Amino acid sequence: MNDIEQNQVGVWIIGGRGFIATTTIISRLLLQHEEIEPIGLLTCSEYFENLPFLDWKSITFGGCDIHSYSLTKSLEKLIEDHIVPFKFQSHVIDYLRKIDLNIDNIFESLPLEDNLSPKEQIVVCRKYLKRFKEEQKLNKVIVVDLSSTQPVTEIEEKLFKFDNWKSLDFFLENTNDYIPWSVIYCTASLLENCAYLNFTPNIGSELPGLQDLAVQNKLPHAGKDGKTGETLLKTVLAPMFLYRQMKVLSWQSYNMLGNNDGSALSNADSKKAKIRSKDSSLRKILINSSDVHSHVAIDYVPSLGDWKTAMNFVHFEGFLNTRMSLQFTWSGCDTNLAVPLVLDLIRFIELAWRSGEYGKLNYLCPYFKSPIGYPEADFREQISILFAHFANSRTS
Ligand SMILES: NC(=O)c1ccc[n+]([C@@H]2O[C@H](COP(=O)([O-])OP(=O)(O)OC[C@H]3O[C@@H](n4cnc5c(N)ncnc54)[C@H](O)[C@@H]3O)[C@@H](O)[C@H]2O)c1
Repeated sequence: MNDIEQNQVGVWIIGGRGFIATTTIISRLLLQHEEIEPIGLLTCSEYFENLPFLDWKSITFGGCDIHSYSLTKSLEKLIEDHIVPFKFQSHVIDYLRKIDLNIDNIFESLPLEDNLSPKEQIVVCRKYLKRFKEEQKLNKVIVVDLSSTQPVTEIEEKLFKFDNWKSLDFFLENTNDYIPWSVIYCTASLLENCAYLNFTPNIGSELPGLQDLAVQNKLPHAGKDGKTGETLLKTVLAPMFLYRQMKVLSWQSYNMLGNNDGSALSNADSKKAKIRSKDSSLRKILINSSDVHSHVAIDYVPSLGDWKTAMNFVHFEGFLNTRMSLQFTWSGCDTNLAVPLVLDLIRFIELAWRSGEYGKLNYLCPYFKSPIGYPEADFREQISILFAHFANSRTS
């Protein structure tokens, strides 16, 4: 299929050769040619059929990765792990080869150890973004963070203290400290007038200084950490205990992951970032959270591949202080839970941008474990906020 024509909007993926990235790229092509059903995509549902979302053929992908293996190699792995059906291989291979040319190896190590100052790293990223825009003749680019979970470092606390772009900019210009890569990429993106989507637990546009920059440059952004599986289920179930006035005593979660993300999370500091994001949703819902004993554990179990398994044990107290428990096991294909959300988010952000909206898009909260600037974690409440935002356009 040859369809790199009439492209108007660029989607530049950080971690462009990862599982979610590669499957997102493939899915855009398969959706365009109606070879797959848009299962899991709210933007293709009857609820939003009146909204003028970007069509699939108008998206051109580019991006960066620290790995140099090709997208076709990623596809092989996705087929081997039964994430993408083999029957699609011949349909998408040429397309992947073309998109591969737009994915650069900007930096080669993790964390960024290329002996460049943060300021120099930002300059390098901007150069690649500019080139992507020029070469592909794009007016608009949305940068999407789909990179590995980065380790939590002490510098984060300091970065959160800069409450405007001017003070953060001054710091980034003059420091030689290690700065998390999501901050480097996000700064470069916003300076290059790109919208920003953070699907990972990384900091990115959560920093007040970068939120300020997005507002100054009139750019929309959303994040962080896609709510795809176990946390989604928790934020549906936890309100039930609250509104039935049953007291949750303990909520224990044990996650096993066998994909690259699982391997990245075997780093203790990266795991900290993910656990922080997962546990906070539950605590926000259960108002008496200080009394609740909760714990999230994550282990890397290679044989599971992309089939993440999460076991939960909820110990609670009902009438006459009777103690009971709920136990459930969630087994999901991690990548295929994430991809429809990424595609939806790209379309929602692009539409917001076209409509003149900028700053953090609060109404996209149901898509995230830790929605930026939005305290509500209850999934039903979050979905009502999304629907309320579009209420008029849905009835028109
Ligand atoms: N699958 C889900 O349900 C889900 C839900 C929420 C969040 N996420 C997050 O999405 C992200 C991607 O997940 P995945 O399964 O595709 O992981 P993956 O490991 O397959 O892909 C991540 C890619 O990022 C690249 N990368 C790492 N550091 C980089 C850097 N500094 N610059 C550029 N590229 C870099 C890696 O080389 C890899 O290709 C992870 O952070 C994960 O935590 C996934």
